Amino acid sequence: MRETALTVENLAVSLPPQLACSRSQRLLNGINFQLGHGEMLGLVGDSGSGKSTLLRALARLIEPDDGRVLLFGRDWDEFTPRLYRRKVCLLSQVPVALPGTVEDNLGYVFHLHRNLPRVDPRHLLMEVNLPPHLLTQNAETMSVGEKQRLALARALAMQPQVLLLDEPTSALDETNAVQVLDLLTAICSRKGLSAILATHIREHLRIAHRKLLLSDGEVTENE
Ligand SMILES: Nc1ncnc2c1ncn2[C@@H]1O[C@H](COP(=O)(O)OP(=O)(O)O)[C@@H](O)[C@H]1O
Ligand SMILES: [Mg+2]
Repeated sequence: MRETALTVENLAVSLPPQLACSRSQRLLNGINFQLGHGEMLGLVGDSGSGKSTLLRALARLIEPDDGRVLLFGRDWDEFTPRLYRRKVCLLSQVPVALPGTVEDNLGYVFHLHRNLPRVDPRHLLMEVNLPPHLLTQNAETMSVGEKQRLALARALAMQPQVLLLDEPTSALDETNAVQVLDLLTAICSRKGLSAILATHIREHLRIAHRKLLLSDGEVTENE
């Protein structure tokens, strides 16, 4: 039996009141599941089923109106939001490059989390298969595939315990998508990282150990 990385208990999310109109505005309802240590869980569901909302709630970027999450057995309220978001790290669908060079982009992490041991930026690039000469390049001029790898390198610098991957290949062509999926698999298994991979492409589930099906904001299959 694997140790449990995340325990999600009865999570419910509604639209913020200023956006809600008369109809029921529950985006997620009664979400319960566990993510094992070192497990890659595939999160599938049609567009609009709530995958991104669930990942954002798990990253504590939106506050649920019910439920809680345990991270390796500890209630998420025991962590400061900053520490929790360092440990449970969301990679968004469209990779974000911050202003400045690639090296600046990696440096922000250590500026924000001063207790983190500094890692050689060349090493971080190597981990995501980017060449070290990119360090001096303006990050905003990188290709989308490179930006996605840079975002992953930034996430890895935070030494996360859980990666939340929101359709990480949706902005990439098929060749790049396969490479990024294989890279994610290799990194997670080498580091013993737990991950949730949201995707609407069933073929991408080949890298998942298990899957969770979301329909209209509810888990309808957990296998
Ligand atoms: N800020 C928001 N304002 C209005 N509707 C939203 C907002 N966020 C999410 N939704 C709605 O919540 C539902 C779930 O969206 P989302 O989590 O993005 O689904 P998925 O990632 O599976 O495509 C959709 O119907 C979407 O329109
Ligand atoms: Mg989405």
